[in-house]
Amino acid sequence: RLLIIDFGSQVTQLIARRLRELNVYCEIHPYQNVTMDMVREMAPRAVIFSGGPDSVTREGSPRPPEGIFDYGVPILGICYGQQVMMQELGGRVVGGKISGGGGTAEFGRAFVTPAGGLDLLDGWFEHGPEQVWMSHGDHVAELAPGFEVFGTSPHAPYAITADPERHFYAVQFHPEVHHTPRGAKLYENFVRLAGFTGDWTMAGYREQAVEQIREQIGDKRVICALSGGVDSSVAAVLIHEAVGDQLTCVFVDHGLLRKDEAEEVVAMFRDNLNLQVIHADETELFLGELDGQSDPETKRKIIGRLFIDVFQKYANEIEGAEFLAQGTLYPDVIESVSFSGGPSVTIKSHHNVGGLPEKMGLKLVEPLRELFKDEVRALGHELGLPAHFIARHPFPGPGLAIRCPGEITREKLDILREADAVYIDQIRKHGLYDEIWQAFCAILPVRTVGVMGDGRTYDFACALRAVTSVDGMTADYYPFTHEFLGETATRIINEVSGINRVTYDITSKPPGTIEWE
Ligand code: XMP
Repeated sequence: RLLIIDFGSQVTQLIARRLRELNVYCEIHPYQNVTMDMVREMAPRAVIFSGGPDSVTREGSPRPPEGIFDYGVPILGICYGQQVMMQELGGRVVGGKISGGGGTAEFGRAFVTPAGGLDLLDGWFEHGPEQVWMSHGDHVAELAPGFEVFGTSPHAPYAITADPERHFYAVQFHPEVHHTPRGAKLYENFVRLAGFTGDWTMAGYREQAVEQIREQIGDKRVICALSGGVDSSVAAVLIHEAVGDQLTCVFVDHGLLRKDEAEEVVAMFRDNLNLQVIHADETELFLGELDGQSDPETKRKIIGRLFIDVFQKYANEIEGAEFLAQGTLYPDVIESVSFSGGPSVTIKSHHNVGGLPEKMGLKLVEPLRELFKDEVRALGHELGLPAHFIARHPFPGPGLAIRCPGEITREKLDILREADAVYIDQIRKHGLYDEIWQAFCAILPVRTVGVMGDGRTYDFACALRAVTSVDGMTADYYPFTHEFLGETATRIINEVSGINRVTYDITSKPPGTIEWE
């Protein structure tokens, strides 16, 4: 295994991700928790020092445990990790902008050129200078004994340094980020020279996660709000594997789900996967309170508030529940909170995590908080969730309410469900589902005139939406062929009573949003 000592960088988890991609098992531990006893027990084959926001020139700033350099394994220091390595081994670091020492701070793209051959750099510089991402205030001014320079950039004479004999490597930039396009190669070289064979897999992650969950939960009870989305589903199945029927899932059905969705989700989890699932059918409550409401924010707030009330009501009936399971992913963590007890800085609080656990006096279980979406899908696959389920498009918490602009009525919801089912069926039949990030129908709050057979119709219009996106933050409309659009419109109008006009939404995000409300 490999130990990552976390000095508080916002991107430490990206290092872990790069290592998982190389099938290397690693553990991240905040520097405060790392002692030499712990290191000896863990027996890592290599150590990485992450970056961090502090300045090594500041007294009391984070340090690795004393003795780590005598432990005899390869060490890679990144950014702050480089500086701390130099400082500890007898070099000198000077402060830049952040610590008040002047203009040596450097943020953004830089190009590194080689200054000597090094095993860590195998495969680098084959096509000239390498682009890297710098993000540091301080810099190394004097190398520690035994170290040499192996790469420089215009503003960083010590961009890549190493003591090749002891296998200590220290770089000033961040090889783990996307903007260091060939950074993965450095990690590959590092783990190879440390002797890793790359035999660790998602199956290994599953085993390790199950063990950790058992340790955390013991013989206590856990509850989980199961939405049928990929994240909460994978979290629930993983926790169920760890603690079986100590887990109870509450599926809050607000009556704003897609056609047959509630029944399918409940049946899959209950009958196929043997989880305990409470189907909280609260359609009447939600639609009652939404009656007559047309303002988007009001609708969202009503749904959010009722969701919490309902979940609490059902959760209170589960005796002795001490834990709340959540499918929080790493991108949520990085956007929301610092690692509990970890050294990174809080960026903003996340709306999903909310105040629910504290309000209910529950402790959180978040077994996916180290993973990215594609890794969660791989884990879901590993856990035996059906492929079509894992590949499902995202579906928003407020459900069809935000695809029904204006007032929500049962009639509109029923029409919308039918139209959406035909649309998705068309997309699947044409083999386009996996190319599209998200596709759905919205029912418009207008009726328009049409003619069918010899008669006049006066029915609702619907809008089709389909977007490509990487993360939902930006999106573009999907370029369906005219044939596809024509065929789909014909099918919807013929098969769904209540719709006599179909439009295609070609707005990108920004300026539009993906959902209509
Ligand atoms: P927008 O409409 O903001 O949507 O472009 C971006 C992505 O987020 C989803 N979405 C939500 N998901 N709760 C959720 O869980 C919400 O309140 C919510 N609102 C939007 C939306 O479906 C899209 O994937």
